[in-house]
Amino acid sequence: MQLFLDTANLDEIREAVNWGVISGVTTNPTLMAKEQISYQERVSEICQIVPGPVSVEVLAQDAASMVREAREFSTWAPNVVVKIPMTKEGLKAVKDLTAAGIQTNVTLVFALNQALLAALAGASYVSPFVGRLDDIGHDGMALVGQISALFQGCNFPTRVIAASIRHPLHVTQAAQAGAHIATIPFSVLEGMLQHPLTDAGVKRFLEDWQKVAPSLEKK
Ligand code: G3P
Repeated sequence: MQLFLDTANLDEIREAVNWGVISGVTTNPTLMAKEQISYQERVSEICQIVPGPVSVEVLAQDAASMVREAREFSTWAPNVVVKIPMTKEGLKAVKDLTAAGIQTNVTLVFALNQALLAALAGASYVSPFVGRLDDIGHDGMALVGQISALFQGCNFPTRVIAASIRHPLHVTQAAQAGAHIATIPFSVLEGMLQHPLTDAGVKRFLEDWQKVAPSLEKK
């Protein structure tokens, strides 16, 4: 199980990389828009900080234009993975990009059949959106489990990225469901490390030592 950071914010990426727990980054047009900077400039910056896969989403709607955009993205850095929406045109693009040796992450996956099609087209990654399924009363994590079991059973090399992760429990559940990766916002990463008993324990250890330290220093 690996963690990717789901953000285009450099401060968040630098901080998380310093913790030593992040293997890659995923972005989408919404996350990029928040940064008010060109795609190319930001993606190049991220790829210099993160040696692992960095997903960059196409904006085109038809296969030929997606492939054109993808080819351009992949000249920006060797670790760019092109994010392609789970549409008919997207599948055609994935097939062509796979043949050209360009890594793809099929995004906006909400059903097992969609994941199967993406894997058959040659996707390197699929991204089921857990939170958005939960939002409409479906069990997003059950889908992650079904896709992981299917890919394992069929020996598909496509890796499963649990996406649209909203809270730390989602990360635990994604690991248990067999996801290879969870891509998470920085706020969720921070939430994963916090525990009130850890904070209380650190405070008490220091207080206990401070009670005796002054007398020991005199000796
Ligand atoms: O990785 C996809 C993710 O960014 C979508 O998350 O919270 O907008 O559903 P959310």
